[in-house]
Amino acid sequence: MSWNKRHLLDIESLTADEINTVLDTATAFKAVGERAIKKVPALRGKTVINLFVEPSTRTRISFELAAQRLSADIINFSAEASSLKKGETLKDTARNLEALNADIIIIRHSATGAPHFLSRFLKSSVVNAGDGAHEHPTQALLDTFTIREKKGKIEGLNVTILGDILYSRVARSNIWALLKLGANVTLCGPSTLVPKVFEKMGCKVTWNLEEGVKDADVVNLLRIQHERQRKAMFPSIGEYTSLFGINKTRFKRLKPDVMIMHPGPINRGVEIDSQVADCDQSVILQQVTNGLAVRMAVLFLVNGGKGPQEVAAPVAT
Ligand code: CP
Repeated sequence: MSWNKRHLLDIESLTADEINTVLDTATAFKAVGERAIKKVPALRGKTVINLFVEPSTRTRISFELAAQRLSADIINFSAEASSLKKGETLKDTARNLEALNADIIIIRHSATGAPHFLSRFLKSSVVNAGDGAHEHPTQALLDTFTIREKKGKIEGLNVTILGDILYSRVARSNIWALLKLGANVTLCGPSTLVPKVFEKMGCKVTWNLEEGVKDADVVNLLRIQHERQRKAMFPSIGEYTSLFGINKTRFKRLKPDVMIMHPGPINRGVEIDSQVADCDQSVILQQVTNGLAVRMAVLFLVNGGKGPQEVAAPVAT
């Protein structure tokens, strides 16, 4: 088990072994986070920059905390208060950040491929924190980490991703990760948001809610990505909720041990009712907690760490 990549750009290009290396390294860092002293010196002297050009709560803050727990210096770049507003290009912005000796640049951007673009000319490591509707690799890693932690495995599980698949980077990264780890993936939602072309990736596609969720061990709910939809994809939010929203009545028809997930932010009363979002089988906040350990693992690995076997050493020093 070993990691040799300088960047984390997507899940598509990772092997199952590399995904498992991240998950196992995250398990080791989660154990560190349960100790009295949670900080380790693994990235001491390194500089990490959060280059977020789109809004974020969970991802930005957990990367910030992850860098701090690893003893790195972390800078939060604010797009609104930056020279991007004066016409500076993303390339020039990133090269200026690198000129300040940034070791790792974490980027969230509305343009698909923005992290891949930076990785072609930067010497710094690049981590994708979400690029357009393309990928959100650390979300998929924390989601698979949470499934494995709660269900004890991923292979053979039936995982349904329900909602706006077309515009969701979370869906794409989850599909790649789950299929590589041997899960059965069903995509469900309105036909306009769940095109049949996803079957080519190896998923089952259904536009019928009952059929989509009846055998699910895990239901991962997605919000409607209004910010990326360029035209109306369904008649109204009310109709979406009446056909695909998970309320208490629908929840009772799911498998008794079903696990409810959501990457957040949740839209209560739209894709999920509060009684479901806050029930015992919901792991929504545990996903957020696990995001910290997963992002510590990612920063550790892109900085040259090889795997979980190296996590114990820095803790002991
Ligand atoms: N899940 C997720 O990416 O949340 P944020 O947009 O708050 O980072």
